Amino acid sequence: MFKLISEPQADSLTIYIDGQPCQVPAGISIAAAVLLHNALPSRTTPVSGAPRAPFCMMGVCFDCLMEIDGQPNQRACQMIVAEGMHINRQLAAGRKPA
Ligand code: FES
Repeated sequence: MFKLISEPQADSLTIYIDGQPCQVPAGISIAAAVLLHNALPSRTTPVSGAPRAPFCMMGVCFDCLMEIDGQPNQRACQMIVAEGMHINRQLAAGRKPA
């Protein structure tokens, strides 16, 4: 569905989306990486369980909330990928950190 419009200029790195290793260009947002790998929906709503995906890509809509390195309710569009990150889809309100 989504694809890069040009060859990445930076090195690629490995992140894990729902436990699956994914190669992504360094320097992109987590939300962009999720869209690039079609890992959708990225979350479900707490009340109705409706599916959601990154929308505004600028920190306003909160539709990109995900569990990132064990922390729920993180806006994936506001964080840059880093080697070895573990990103999980967030179901409902998300798990509380241990
Ligand atoms: S995509 Fe809208 S806040 Fe992240």
